[in-house]
Amino acid sequence: MDAIEAMETCRAMRYLKRDPIPDELLEKVLYAATRASNPGNSQGWAFVVVRDEAQKARINDAVIEGVGFNVDETAAAQDPSGADPVTTRIIEGANHLMQNMRYAPAIVIVGARCIYPPQNPMKELLPSSIYPAAQNLIVAARSLGLGTTFTTFCMQAEPQIREILGIPDDVHLGALIPMGWPEKSFGPLARKPLSDVVHYDTWDPAR
Ligand SMILES: Cc1cc2nc3c(=O)[nH]c(=O)nc-3n(C[C@H](O)[C@H](O)[C@H](O)COP(=O)(O)O)c2cc1C
Repeated sequence: MDAIEAMETCRAMRYLKRDPIPDELLEKVLYAATRASNPGNSQGWAFVVVRDEAQKARINDAVIEGVGFNVDETAAAQDPSGADPVTTRIIEGANHLMQNMRYAPAIVIVGARCIYPPQNPMKELLPSSIYPAAQNLIVAARSLGLGTTFTTFCMQAEPQIREILGIPDDVHLGALIPMGWPEKSFGPLARKPLSDVVHYDTWDPAR
């Protein structure tokens, strides 16, 4: 599968099978993540791969408690009539993932240390050590047939996750990505067309 095909069919896969991921595939995905662009090649990133059942369950419980509300209530607030099927589908999926991430064969937490620029590390640059790597990871997983969802669930239970996994205080937690074999199908993404978002040479106020 070429890179474009992987990107254009890389749906957030919130329904995952429990079957394990072979080590060599997991390593390939992590290898791809560490090929990402990053500031000054400082490579401040760190990946914690959680496969242990008890650890996954602890993390899942902490996230559920940390989120502290039922995702369905958020859906109702966003779309009171429940009329928008896309919103309903996303919320149902997000809720399912939140309740069931413990059954994903792997949960990958992507974090980073604030180390760039070396003379004056800037917290504003932290996401640049996390997001490109996470996106590489997600696209590489898709190319190998593995499903993932980019989530920020780790922000909802950061102290608990830090304690459960023994992550030091200087590692910022940026993404929590459940990974596994897809239970639903990959397919084309619903995104705006280029004509809505691309400006050539000068800003087009009509866009
Ligand atoms: C920064 C960020 C945070 C996200 N957080 C969540 C999340 O907490 N739960 C979730 O189910 N999906 C999460 N997503 C996935 C998006 O909801 C998803 O990509 C979007 O709805 C488009 O769906 P698609 O990628 O399947 O086309 C997140 C994505 C990003 C980039």
